Amino acid sequence: MERISTGIEELDRKLSGGYPANKVTLITGIAGSGKTIFGIHFIYKNCLEGRKCMIIATEETPEDILYQASLLGRDLTPYYKSGQLIMENILENRSEMIGQTRYGFKPESLDIEIPNLIELIHEGTECLVVDNIGTFALRVSTKKLRDQFDALNYLVRKRGCTALLIMDESAYNITHQLAEYSVYGSIRLLVRENSYLGKMERYLSIPKMRSTPISPEMSLFEITSEGINIRESGGGSLA
Ligand SMILES: Nc1ncnc2c1ncn2[C@@H]1O[C@H](COP(=O)(O)OP(=O)(O)O)[C@@H](O)[C@H]1O
Ligand SMILES: [Mg+2]
Repeated sequence: MERISTGIEELDRKLSGGYPANKVTLITGIAGSGKTIFGIHFIYKNCLEGRKCMIIATEETPEDILYQASLLGRDLTPYYKSGQLIMENILENRSEMIGQTRYGFKPESLDIEIPNLIELIHEGTECLVVDNIGTFALRVSTKKLRDQFDALNYLVRKRGCTALLIMDESAYNITHQLAEYSVYGSIRLLVRENSYLGKMERYLSIPKMRSTPISPEMSLFEITSEGINIRESGGGSLA
């Protein structure tokens, strides 16, 4: 199976080369666990490799994303300027469309449903990040949500995209972790106290990755000014 680099060397190694090409991988975790930064690694690496990339964001503006990326030593600006990287902020566009100021805008009027996201994806997009798909998941029934996820997965694959769907922990839990069933792979980010050392640590686990041999061990990682740094799993650090 073809793989597309995650932009994180150690993660590529764990995933037999990267995210499965032309499939959907889900990333979940609490606020601040590093989800958006995983997205930035993926997009930056694939911009470098000449792929057409797109970020559909609900919480951050393109400027926010460019700034965060630059702080991690990943300058996305040239790719954004050249059009190789396209960024859409859905909340902003919607608020302009319905003629309201940003301050008067209510998220409840965001009536885009998950399969409609596909219409936003530009022709020829090879790598896609949707951050945060949880925004669309909260106002539909469980049955409908399952159908919508299946439809999105089907459509993304048909388009030939390799997609990273980012979902916040609360939407993930409220929707009974349904998203996990339709996607090809899933990565969970955790922040936990290491009571031995008396400090908080970041962990990554890969509960699901079809066609990929994966160790169930959690991996410790750090976020630094150079981005995500995954420690080689020895497994012992939670002991
Ligand atoms: N240069 C940095 N050094 C250390 N930590 C950083 C750096 N940049 C960001 N972080 C950490 O990354 C976290 C945010 O990651 P982010 O991907 O935005 O989280 P999420 O999208 O899951 O809410 C912040 O809580 C911050 O602590
Ligand atoms: Mg985020």
